[in-house]
Amino acid sequence: MANCSTNVIIEDNTKIKVGVDLGTSSIVLVVVDESNHPVFVASEDASVVADGLVVNFMEAISIVKRLKNKAENQLQRPVTLAAGAVPPGTVGNNKKIIENVIHGAGMEVTEIFDEPTAAAAVLNIQDGAVVDIGGGTTGISIFNNGKVAYSGDEATGGTHMTLVLAGHYGLTLEEGEILKRDSTKYDENFLIMQPVAEKMASITKKFLDDYGKKVKTIYLVGGMMMYPQFTRIFKVVTQLQVIQPNHPKYVTPLGIALKSTAF
Ligand SMILES: Nc1ncnc2c1ncn2[C@@H]1O[C@H](COP(=O)(O)OP(=O)(O)OP(=O)(O)O)[C@@H](O)[C@H]1O
Ligand SMILES: [Mg+2]
Repeated sequence: MANCSTNVIIEDNTKIKVGVDLGTSSIVLVVVDESNHPVFVASEDASVVADGLVVNFMEAISIVKRLKNKAENQLQRPVTLAAGAVPPGTVGNNKKIIENVIHGAGMEVTEIFDEPTAAAAVLNIQDGAVVDIGGGTTGISIFNNGKVAYSGDEATGGTHMTLVLAGHYGLTLEEGEILKRDSTKYDENFLIMQPVAEKMASITKKFLDDYGKKVKTIYLVGGMMMYPQFTRIFKVVTQLQVIQPNHPKYVTPLGIALKSTAF
């Protein structure tokens, strides 16, 4: 499932909003209609971002261009505007680089959001912690009255889980990645990767302790959250209410499209 896409038929006069999410493991393009219903989702696995920074500019542009073309073919209309996002605490000119990637792929940039703020829009969060476990990192953003009050991240992510799984079975990283995504093997895979999940939960607990104020609920998003087993581990370690939404991998990209103001 390196590349995937899905779409629904829309009327000619339906207005659309577009979100592009550039991650460490994949690039996702989501289109929603004026009622905020997703009408197109496509992603490609990619290694163009490291530590939240775009490291392969040209490759990033080609992938976004391919996703845009796919959207245009399937929706039968030009896709000219898109919003993007950056991880919390992004420093330097990464925001500008994300803008340049989207622009380089032939779209005007409407806004660049903060990733957790985009996720929170989908989950309708006013108060609580969004924990995003993607390929590279475990990131946390704590919301207070709809605003980010604290954010932190640490470099333990899905790639570490692949390393552990591949190491256990003597596989290459590529083979480990395929095995990790095989949902029929989730239970047995998770037993092997559980120590990493426990570390991610402890990282989260440490961030919550640093924040110091009361947090009631943790929302788990990001590709690794395709594993439903995370809820149990996070509940045990943090002693808080834990919510693992449907389609955790697409929460942030969907939020980017949904929060975009321009049609
Ligand atoms: N169907 C799946 N089942 C299990 N794991 C998956 C699945 N799809 C993706 N993953 C894992 O999720 C991780 C990528 O998640 P995501 O797409 O949220 O990351 P990203 O946004 O590209 O990275 P980051 O947020 O760290 O920059 C990878 O480790 C990948 O192996
Ligand atoms: Mg991500």
